[in-house]
Amino acid sequence: MAVALGLQPQEALLNDLNPHVINFYSWLQKGLYIDIRLENDSCYYYWCRKQFNELILSGRANSEESAKLFYFMNRTGFNGLCRFNSKDQFNVPFGRYKTISYVKDFSHYIPILKRWSFTAFDFVDLHLQPTDFIYSDPPYDVQFTKYSANDFKWDDQIRLAEWLACHHGPVVASNQATERIVELYKSLGFSLSLIDAPRRISCDGNRQRAKEILAFKNISL
Ligand SMILES: C[S@@+](CC[C@H](N)C(=O)[O-])C[C@H]1O[C@@H](n2cnc3c(N)ncnc32)[C@H](O)[C@@H]1O
Repeated sequence: MAVALGLQPQEALLNDLNPHVINFYSWLQKGLYIDIRLENDSCYYYWCRKQFNELILSGRANSEESAKLFYFMNRTGFNGLCRFNSKDQFNVPFGRYKTISYVKDFSHYIPILKRWSFTAFDFVDLHLQPTDFIYSDPPYDVQFTKYSANDFKWDDQIRLAEWLACHHGPVVASNQATERIVELYKSLGFSLSLIDAPRRISCDGNRQRAKEILAFKNISL
């Protein structure tokens, strides 16, 4: 979303397998106004988390109320994490920020997002035109770690890189610059650029500097 907002194309398809992220964006498109209480308080946070999880259980995860609670929890929860347990229940603990500046009125997004589409598919199920520009921002590879918070395994990294390599239009992909990611994208003919990027969010709250790559294909730099 940050890249799309930076580029502001007339038309765009934003896809993420996480339906809650996509629900939030879909409500932004309609002009979301957050009229629930926004308070950096632990008891209130856990009450909201319970409400949100009840909406999921009752099949109302795509409601406006879910989008409002999702925004509140994203701002107030630990490190802005978005993590669900095996029963699809949001389980991020309270964040303990000193101060939080909440936004209530998102109506200025309406004209920008007007002609964008939002879907929650696995990337292979996307129907793209051969000339479409793809920016791919998958869960970062974590080498030597069996545990993957978002279940995006090494096989998925390979599946994604190979899918991107087959696309005829321009592609930019970001990822953590682990040895195997660098090898994978190089072996598929991508040009690579290494960046010393500050890590903003990670599944374990680790904010150390990490090397990242940008992989390019069908783009003249
Ligand atoms: C680094 S985050 C990108 C966040 C997103 N670009 C945004 O701005 O909202 C990686 C995202 O990949 C999504 N993801 C994981 N597996 C996926 C899949 N098979 N197909 C599509 N998206 C997937 C996760 O839900 C996660 O939100």
